[in-house]
Amino acid sequence: MTAPNVARGAPAGLLDDVLRGLTANPKTLPPKLFYDATGAALFERICELDEYYLTRAELSILREHAGEISAMAGEECVLIEYGSGAGVKIRLLLDALVRPAAYVPIDISREQLGRVAARIQREYPRLRVHPLCADYTRPVQLPPLGGHGRRVAFFPGSTIGNFHPAEAAAFLGRIRRTIGHDGALVLGVDRRKDPSVLHAAYDDPAGVTAEFNLNVLRRINRELGADFDLRRFRHRVLFDDAASRIEMHLESTCAQTVDVAGLRIAFERGETIWTESSYKYDEERLASLAGAAGFQIQRLWSDDGDRFWVAMLVPIDRPNGA
Ligand code: AVJ
Repeated sequence: MTAPNVARGAPAGLLDDVLRGLTANPKTLPPKLFYDATGAALFERICELDEYYLTRAELSILREHAGEISAMAGEECVLIEYGSGAGVKIRLLLDALVRPAAYVPIDISREQLGRVAARIQREYPRLRVHPLCADYTRPVQLPPLGGHGRRVAFFPGSTIGNFHPAEAAAFLGRIRRTIGHDGALVLGVDRRKDPSVLHAAYDDPAGVTAEFNLNVLRRINRELGADFDLRRFRHRVLFDDAASRIEMHLESTCAQTVDVAGLRIAFERGETIWTESSYKYDEERLASLAGAAGFQIQRLWSDDGDRFWVAMLVPIDRPNGA
């Protein structure tokens, strides 16, 4: 069995993203930049932290309801996963689905994607595995999928939380067009909850999340020859209740200038780079997001602690009615 070829999407445009973000007011960096090889490994460590409940909660939902989710997905479906990561969650679906026809894992972390796709191809020899290395926040060209099964998109992990509401609706709208009128979207969503639980999850005492956040500066130093001094920035977390989002920032601990690809970027003491938003949803917010993208909620599954949802979204205008 040969390893599947990893198709390459549009180039990531790191320099563009960094310069645009650091010259904006307030300064920002897009969260997709976290995931170089080191960042992907740090994220795996975050998922094992006691305080970071998201991954375990979602896995417990998938374990408990994989049969029902798969029955709703139908036989011989084509699975498209946005952000396949370590490739753990998809197995729960693959094991429950009836003769899944194809699997298209899309991820920005090239090395991990190649490894994961090869392993899945080995373990599921009858599945057509088409890995695609791409920044799926930009339009991506899917491989020719053929087959007759329904297209089922899988967007787990509460990654939808990284998008601001208008971007989230635009992105889900693109998924809606990719899967067609009779497709479905299985979406992992983190629920609104007590901010103290969120603070602990995003500012863990072991400092792994701080390391994950700061790693983006190390990456920019290495890949763009910048000279960020990591000792002069610190990890900051806040919950914006009105926006229903956790924000991660990197705060400059002094007045300083940093050289980024020949451009001098000035920081005031206390100024931050806003590196991530993680939106938390209640049912009203989720229904409104789904509706804005042409979807409706067909089913919501939660975990024992009511912390997380796996949602089955279907097109509003699907052929067989609701
Ligand atoms: C991978 C986007 C779901 O928002 O919880 C973990 C990333 N950031 N700790 C999240 C993350 C800080 C994560 N997502």
